[in-house]
Amino acid sequence: MPRTRASALFRQTFGGPPEVVAAAPGRVNLIGEHVDYAEGFVLPIAIERSTAVAIRRAPAGAPSRAVSEVTGEESFDLPTARGPLPSRSWANYVLGPMRELIDGGQARACNVDVAVASDVPLGGGVSSSAALEVAAALAYRELAGGTSDRLAIARLCQRAEHRYAGTPCGIMDMTVSACATLGHALLIDCRSLALRHVRLPASAIVLVFDSGVRHRLSDGGYASRRDAVERAADALGVGTLRDASPDAVARARDDGRLDADAAAKARHVTTEIARTIAAADALDAGDLAAFGRLMYESHASLRDDFRVSIGELDALVEAAADAPGVYGARMTGGGFGGSAIALVDRERADAAQAFIGDAFRRRFGRQPATFATAAAGGATVAPYVHG
Ligand code: GLA
Repeated sequence: MPRTRASALFRQTFGGPPEVVAAAPGRVNLIGEHVDYAEGFVLPIAIERSTAVAIRRAPAGAPSRAVSEVTGEESFDLPTARGPLPSRSWANYVLGPMRELIDGGQARACNVDVAVASDVPLGGGVSSSAALEVAAALAYRELAGGTSDRLAIARLCQRAEHRYAGTPCGIMDMTVSACATLGHALLIDCRSLALRHVRLPASAIVLVFDSGVRHRLSDGGYASRRDAVERAADALGVGTLRDASPDAVARARDDGRLDADAAAKARHVTTEIARTIAAADALDAGDLAAFGRLMYESHASLRDDFRVSIGELDALVEAAADAPGVYGARMTGGGFGGSAIALVDRERADAAQAFIGDAFRRRFGRQPATFATAAAGGATVAPYVHG
């Protein structure tokens, strides 16, 4: 358990117990991809993998020290820190949310000792960074007397990601990590941040397959898609593509306001928003077959129109379509690598997992890392109990 491991690492590093431990899950998005920054609808679940942050106030006069099981130790002065630590340090995901709490007047400034442990795969497209940010924010809020609610925590973690990690991400990952409820997907209206918890039938489970291709969202492909989406909204005369329809996009293409490439990207966003609303309704109705079809359509749109998939992800989705018990499959997250998911009948999950893994190995000569998850609950935070 990351929580136990973070507490053990804390004792080992700092020679005493933490005061507070928080844990926050990673996520996979069931549908609604590359629409959060266009104020669309997304439908992610929290996964049964989390990052834990154990924390206490630092001894008087000492700087902050952050230690992680895998990425080493960093130190910084939290009360005076301004802007990110150099060299894309992992500790920016700890420092950033804490500084955002302080700068927003949500918590007092003090130095801290921090230990981090996680079982969220790093760089696998399942939001390891959001998990760390949300856990760090909740741990520090609890320690330093803040009162921000879960949505405020999600918002400030998004700002921290922009300012301290250099990634212009949307609001989806942090919101589901902070706000999910057990057994439910979370329909997020990324304009109003209204949340609807949609029950995922217990008969279904999600398989996650890591393509093994590492992406960095700060590397440019993601930012260029965001720019394209914003330019398309300008050309259509709307604030965001949330306010445009697929028909309006087709008309703009016909009359030359959008070129073919821009129209394809805008078509993805406008059709994906509609698919996501339909998918939430299908889930409400317990219609997993309809839900699965929308997942395949989403993947095709990301591959052909939005162009963020890669061969490895396409191969996983194609294999899933032939596997036993699979309702639907698609890439998940920002793309250019990362993971694909399949929604499967729980009883046939082992068979489907083996089938898809074997098909991938035959094609790429290696077994993909994979795990199964139900819809987990959101982040938790509590005073550390000795023992
Ligand atoms: C990344 C970002 C999210 C979202 C997805 C694409 O995961 O962090 O905000 O934009 O890509 O849906």
